Amino acid sequence: MRILSFIIWPLVLYLIGLFSTESPNTTTESPHGKDFKISCSTCHSSKGWSLDKEIYAFDHSKTKMPLLGSHKDLNCKLCHSSLVFSEAKAKTECVSCHTDIHNQSVGKYCDKCHTPDSWIVSNVTGIHQQSRFPLLGVHTMTECQQCHKSETLHRYDVLGIECFDCHRDKYLATSSPNHNTANFSTDCSQCHYIYSYEWASSGFNHDFFPLTLGHANVACSKCHPNNNFSNISTECVSCHLTDYNSTTHPVHSGGCFSTNCTVCHTTNPGWTPTSFDHQNYFPISSGNHSGFACNACHTNPANCTFSCIDCHEHSQSETNNQHNGVGGYSYLSTACYNCHPNGSGGGKHFRK
Ligand code: HEC
Ligand code: HEC
Ligand code: HEC
Ligand code: HEC
Ligand code: HEC
Ligand code: HEC
Ligand code: HEC
Ligand code: HEC
Ligand code: HEC
Ligand code: HEC
Ligand code: HEC
Ligand code: HEC
Ligand code: HEC
Repeated sequence: MRILSFIIWPLVLYLIGLFSTESPNTTTESPHGKDFKISCSTCHSSKGWSLDKEIYAFDHSKTKMPLLGSHKDLNCKLCHSSLVFSEAKAKTECVSCHTDIHNQSVGKYCDKCHTPDSWIVSNVTGIHQQSRFPLLGVHTMTECQQCHKSETLHRYDVLGIECFDCHRDKYLATSSPNHNTANFSTDCSQCHYIYSYEWASSGFNHDFFPLTLGHANVACSKCHPNNNFSNISTECVSCHLTDYNSTTHPVHSGGCFSTNCTVCHTTNPGWTPTSFDHQNYFPISSGNHSGFACNACHTNPANCTFSCIDCHEHSQSETNNQHNGVGGYSYLSTACYNCHPNGSGGGKHFRK
């Protein structure tokens, strides 16, 4: 009996399936595996057991493998070699179905660079921006194979990402100046522009000490005598001490002007204009105290002291009289400056 039912039932079901005008149902033996729960009519109609595309309603995007791009209209069997659909479950990563043409030179995560739309990669520069080696300047114009020298065109391994890895020969061959003996860094970008097509002249990058304004057209040898490129001080005074000492307009040496030139100067030719504003100390460009020589107040050329009383047109007794009843008054220049920081009187401008 049991054996008979084994033979008969499939036959009956087959005939029902064949002649039924109803939708197929689960009583037909399913080739899709034991735990298959989806209604047969999602994919099959009375037309038979092939996939009926007109009524096909399975939402494949509910699985972990939405069918996008060129995957959309593929024959199911290309991915589901067995009709037990769940057997495809371990195969959602690109590399589980596609051969790694790059020979493991870019890792196994194809979707980092590819989509199911096509294998063409339009944005190689973009890929490089994400990598440890963004393609900049000249390198964007360089043939892929000049850096990716592997025997097959699809391998993308490289020598390394340091300038020296690829430009070692050029470095060792330099003569003017000889980089090796000058002990230059092998990080070329310290001194060379990656945006330049050449290494010398405009390709050279002095941004660590910008050669601007008064320094723009100065011969290298003026600052680097005897081809000496190392241990050059960036302090202005290290090269401009003579200028400082010989300056008469105004006299700098003596302590009034610090040797930190950048407090007042840029590299502007002629050393002017300066950011120095005497008004911040004492108004001399207008009012009572304009039109005097510097040394009218700065009487001692050896330092930055000043004097009010040596010049002031009133005598000591007259000045004393002007301060009858002013507490704290004394006939000392520093005291005058302290109470008259703007050189004016009349009470309202006083330091309170
Ligand atoms: C998600 C869609 C889908 C569902 C649901 C589905 N099938 Fe299928 N079925 C297929 C596909 C695809 C094929 C292969 C058809 C082809 O090759 O054209 C197939 C083939 C078959 C075949 C033919 C097997 C062969 O070897 O040719 C039978 C029988 C079958 N299905 C029965 C069922 C039964 C019974 C159910 C319901 C329990 C069911 N199917 C549910 C998609 C489905
Ligand atoms: C490009 C490959 C690909 C194509 C084409 C494809 N599938 Fe799938 N399918 C998969 C993968 C991979 C999974 C497993 C996804 C997961 O793990 O959730 C899957 C899952 C399924 C499942 C769910 C299985 C389960 O038990 O959860 C069904 C049903 C299914 N596919 C039916 C179809 C049918 C019907 C077609 C044709 C109309 C089709 N697939 C076309 C790759 C594909
Ligand atoms: C479950 C298997 C499977 C998975 C997973 C899979 N594919 Fe596919 N893919 C196929 C099949 C099958 C085809 C059609 C046959 C072929 O061209 O190899 C295809 C075709 C393609 C095509 C079209 C090829 C052409 O020449 O037109 C691209 C592009 C593609 N897949 C990219 C991807 C990417 C990217 C991933 C990962 C996000 C991926 N595939 C994941 C099975 C898969
Ligand atoms: C880091 C980026 C990257 C990754 C990851 C990557 N590829 Fe590619 N792939 C490329 C580039 C770039 C090309 C050349 C594209 C071009 O010329 O338009 C390419 C081309 C291809 C091509 C077409 C080759 C031809 O004949 O023109 C295939 C197929 C391919 N890749 C498959 C894969 C597969 C499979 C994986 C995963 C194992 C993968 N790729 C991972 C960048 C990548
Ligand atoms: C000037 C040298 C240079 C040129 C030119 C160059 N590359 Fe690269 N490329 C590199 C370096 C270096 C790496 C390694 C980056 C890393 O390891 O992070 C790399 C990495 C890659 C990667 C892998 C990226 C990743 O994330 O794994 C791909 C793909 C690639 N290049 C494709 C190309 C293609 C295609 C071209 C031509 C259009 C090209 N490259 C031109 C130097 C270059
Ligand atoms: C993966 C190899 C690679 C790396 C790393 C690399 N380059 Fe290049 N570079 C090249 C190739 C190839 C060229 C094309 C000309 C050639 O063959 O030298 C080039 C050209 C240049 C040029 C144009 C001058 C010339 O020789 O044609 C400059 C400048 C340059 N690179 C600077 C740099 C700097 C700076 C770095 C480091 C930040 C660097 N490169 C890192 C491979 C590389
Ligand atoms: C400390 C600064 C410095 C570093 C770092 C440096 N260079 Fe230079 N390089 C120079 C100077 C200065 C010149 C001469 C510029 C001129 O004449 O206009 C020069 C010129 C060159 C020249 C052309 C002159 C010749 O004799 O051929 C090449 C090629 C060159 N460098 C390659 C490199 C490479 C490759 C690296 C990195 C591996 C590098 N340089 C690192 C300062 C540097
Ligand atoms: C106005 C003065 C001045 C001029 C002109 C000048 N340099 Fe320099 N250079 C300096 C100073 C200052 C330093 C030290 C920078 C530092 O240590 O940060 C320096 C440093 C260097 C270094 C060494 C960088 C290092 O990392 O060791 C090189 C190489 C160099 N200059 C090359 C040149 C070349 C080539 C020229 C002509 C194109 C030039 N310099 C013109 C002032 C100058
Ligand atoms: C390594 C030496 C060096 C250093 C450091 C240096 N200079 Fe110079 N500077 C020169 C040379 C050389 C000239 C060309 C004129 C000359 O021969 O005196 C020059 C020219 C100038 C000029 C133009 C002078 C004129 O007559 O038009 C100014 C302004 C100037 N430097 C300001 C500065 C300032 C400010 C600093 C500090 C930030 C500085 N320099 C640092 C070497 C240097
Ligand atoms: C406290 C501000 C200050 C400091 C610090 C300073 N200077 Fe000046 N310097 C001036 C002023 C103000 C002038 C006059 C500018 C004018 O004529 O417009 C001047 C003018 C000069 C002149 C032109 C003088 C002339 O005879 O034409 C030179 C050269 C000069 N400074 C060099 C230096 C040097 C070198 C240093 C640093 C070692 C320095 N200065 C520091 C304020 C300063
Ligand atoms: C009418 C008097 C007077 C005249 C004229 C005068 N100064 Fe002064 N100067 C002062 C006083 C007061 C101070 C403030 C001193 C203090 O804060 O210690 C001062 C401060 C300074 C300082 C700042 C000193 C510091 O502490 O950093 C400099 C530099 C200076 N004067 C330069 C000059 C120069 C250059 C001239 C000529 C163009 C000049 N002064 C003309 C009165 C004068
Ligand atoms: C070069 C000569 C000279 C020097 C130095 C000088 N003064 Fe005068 N001062 C004058 C003259 C001229 C007047 C206007 C006439 C007057 O009121 O006596 C004046 C006026 C004044 C007045 C009165 C202003 C008013 O509004 O009536 C005060 C306060 C004053 N000076 C303070 C000072 C102080 C503080 C110093 C020292 C930092 C100083 N002066 C250095 C020449 C000088
Ligand atoms: C303790 C603060 C103080 C000191 C120090 C001081 N003064 Fe005065 N000074 C005053 C006051 C307050 C007045 C206003 C008196 C009045 O209007 O009755 C005055 C008035 C003056 C006037 C007259 C202003 C006018 O409007 O007629 C002059 C000029 C003057 N002082 C200069 C000086 C000189 C020069 C010194 C240094 C020798 C000096 N002062 C020191 C506080 C001071």
